[in-house]
Amino acid sequence: MKHFHFVLLWLIISCILSTLSIRFGTYNIQSGSNFAHVYNLTETAETINQLDVDIIALQEVDNFTDRHLIDQTLYIAQYNKIQSFEYFHFEKMRNFQNGGYGISILSKQTSIKRLLTYHYNNTTAEQCVIPKEGDYCQGFILIEIPFKYQDNIDLSIYFGTTHLVIGLNGLQQFNEVKQIVQWMSDNIINISKNPYIF
Ligand SMILES: *[C@@H]1O[C@H](CO)[C@@H](O)[C@H](O)[C@H]1NC(C)=O
Ligand SMILES: *[C@@H]1O[C@H](CO)[C@@H](O)[C@H](O)[C@H]1NC(C)=O
Ligand SMILES: *[C@@H]1O[C@H](CO)[C@@H](O)[C@H](O)[C@H]1NC(C)=O
Ligand SMILES: *[C@@H]1O[C@H](CO)[C@@H](O)[C@H](O)[C@H]1NC(C)=O
Ligand SMILES: *[C@@H]1O[C@H](CO)[C@@H](O)[C@H](O)[C@H]1NC(C)=O
Repeated sequence: MKHFHFVLLWLIISCILSTLSIRFGTYNIQSGSNFAHVYNLTETAETINQLDVDIIALQEVDNFTDRHLIDQTLYIAQYNKIQSFEYFHFEKMRNFQNGGYGISILSKQTSIKRLLTYHYNNTTAEQCVIPKEGDYCQGFILIEIPFKYQDNIDLSIYFGTTHLVIGLNGLQQFNEVKQIVQWMSDNIINISKNPYIF
């Protein structure tokens, strides 16, 4: 991770904190189970609502599966009608129970510049109805939020999420993390011209 200029990053973060405030969150929703492991998507959406975040990442999200015939991302995004998450993206990582299973990012802020996605081992959702050993078919998604710092510096804020799998005694997780580092290097760190924050 030597390409991260931590000192510089933290300086920039502390500088912009005074002018910019974005609340980020992340939540593994277990496809809408509550803390007692009983399915209740309303409760999940209400919990997220109370977090009062601007941007949230969700893991273990269903989309029209046999077990939950609903677009969970859309439901959560629109749960608070007044302050809805106007931008949202569900990335189907696996074809599952005649629907999709994956991760999502929801944002109340709509000035998202771009969305980037990567599937571990480049396995498509269609290739993964039944996951094989060492590949549970997950991946990550990343959004870029442009921000003008001090009116003249174009700063990029990247916010991403993943769902790592503890397979092969942890080796799979390690494999996946290495792929993230490689992908980040190739697609952002090595080629980015603007200063950025992850
Ligand atoms: C689901 O959660 C909501 C919000 O907490 C609650 O009002 C509702 O009664 C719950 N539904 C069931 C079936 O328990
Ligand atoms: C969920 O699946 C439906 C049907 O395939 C699709 O139209 C919809 O866009 C998906 N939802 C999201 C948030 O991507
Ligand atoms: C996935 O595909 C990209 C682009 O072709 C390639 O650079 C990368 O090495 C692949 N990842 C793996 C784990 O095979
Ligand atoms: C996934 O890709 C990594 C890196 O190329 C490789 O070491 C690993 O064996 C692959 N896993 C599977 C299940 O194909
Ligand atoms: C990109 O980053 C990787 C480290 O992840 C490094 O090995 C490689 O040399 C870099 N490539 C360029 C063109 O700077």
